[in-house]
Amino acid sequence: MRETLEKIKKEALEALSSPSAQLEELRIRFLGKKGELTAVLRGMGKLAPEERREIGELANSVRQQIEQRIEMLSEQQKAAKLDAKLAEEKLDVTVPGVGVKTGRFHPLALVQRQLEDIFLGMGYSIVDGPEVEYDYYNFQALNIPKDHPARDTQDTFYITENILLRSQTSPVQARVMEKTTPPIKIISPGRVYRSDAVDATHSPLFHQLEGLVIDRGITMGDLKGTLEMFAKRMFGEQTRIRFRPHHFPFTEPSAEVDVSCFVCGGTGCRLCKGEGWIEILGAGMVHPNVLRNCGIDPEEYSGFAFGLGIERIALLKYHIDDMRLLYENDIRFLNQF
Ligand code: DAH
Repeated sequence: MRETLEKIKKEALEALSSPSAQLEELRIRFLGKKGELTAVLRGMGKLAPEERREIGELANSVRQQIEQRIEMLSEQQKAAKLDAKLAEEKLDVTVPGVGVKTGRFHPLALVQRQLEDIFLGMGYSIVDGPEVEYDYYNFQALNIPKDHPARDTQDTFYITENILLRSQTSPVQARVMEKTTPPIKIISPGRVYRSDAVDATHSPLFHQLEGLVIDRGITMGDLKGTLEMFAKRMFGEQTRIRFRPHHFPFTEPSAEVDVSCFVCGGTGCRLCKGEGWIEILGAGMVHPNVLRNCGIDPEEYSGFAFGLGIERIALLKYHIDDMRLLYENDIRFLNQF
C-alpha cells in the first residue's frame, strides 16, 4: 500500500509539474470520489490498526501535497490568463475616434419649425388635421359648394365621391370651429395634395400652414398687425407688407399678401422679378357663411384666417430655384442647411 501511495504521489506531482496541466482532470483522477487515492483509502479497513494509522498519515500527506500543488498551479494559471487578456485588450488612447454622424433638419422642417415658433410666441396653439378628408370640410363647410369653380382650380385627388386627399389646410379651420367655443387662436401646418405634374414650382404633395383667429371684435386691423409681425420675424425687421384685393370663397374681404423683397429691400431684383414685392400668402376675414356652417354666430363673433405654402417660403428664404430639390433627398443638397 505504501508503494501504491508513493506511486500515486510521484505520478501526480509529475503530472502537476507542467504549468499548463489540466487541473480539473487531474484533481478528479487523483482526488475524486472514484480517484486513485480514494481507492487506496477504501482498502484501509483490512489493515492492522498500527499499520492503518501509518498508512492513514501517509495518505493524508499525499493528499495535502497534491491539493497544494493543484491550488498553486490554479493561481498561476489564473494570473497568466489575466495577463494575456490585459495584453490583448490594451487600449490605445492615441487611436483617432470614430466620429458620430448627426443628421440635420430638412429645409422644410426648418421653415415649419420657425413658423411654429413665431406663432407660438404670439399665443397660438398648434392643431393637426387629417390628410384624408371629407369633401364637406375641404370644400362645403368653407363656402365652396359643389360645382363651384374653385373645385376645378384645385385639382383634387378623390378617394370616393365624399372623401379626398385635402387640397388645402383650410378644412382644419372648420373642424376647429365646429368643436370650439371662441376665442380660437390656432395654426395648423401639414401636407396637402393636388394632382399637379411635377416641375420647378409644382408638386402633387406639398405643405401649407393655416392660421385662424376668432373672437369678439376681431378686425382686419388685427389681421394686418399679426401678419406684419409675422413678416418681420420671418424675413427681418425692415420687412413691410402689402395687401392686394383677392377672392377666396371662405373669406370676405380677401387679400393676397406680399412682403417687401428681403434681398433688394423693394428696389427690384432677380428674386422679386423686379417687382420689389413677393407674394407669400392668402388671407381675409372669415366669411359669415363659414362661421354659420360651423355653429358660430357671425353677429357675435368675427375672425381672420390665413394660409401659406411652406415650400414657397423655403424656396424664397434659401434661394432655391427648383422645388424638386426639396424632395430628391440628395445628401449633398440637404447638408447645406
Ligand atoms: N387655402 C388657400 C389655398 O390653398 C389659402 C388660403 C387663403 C387660406 C386665404 C386661408 C385664407 O385661410 O384666408 O390657396
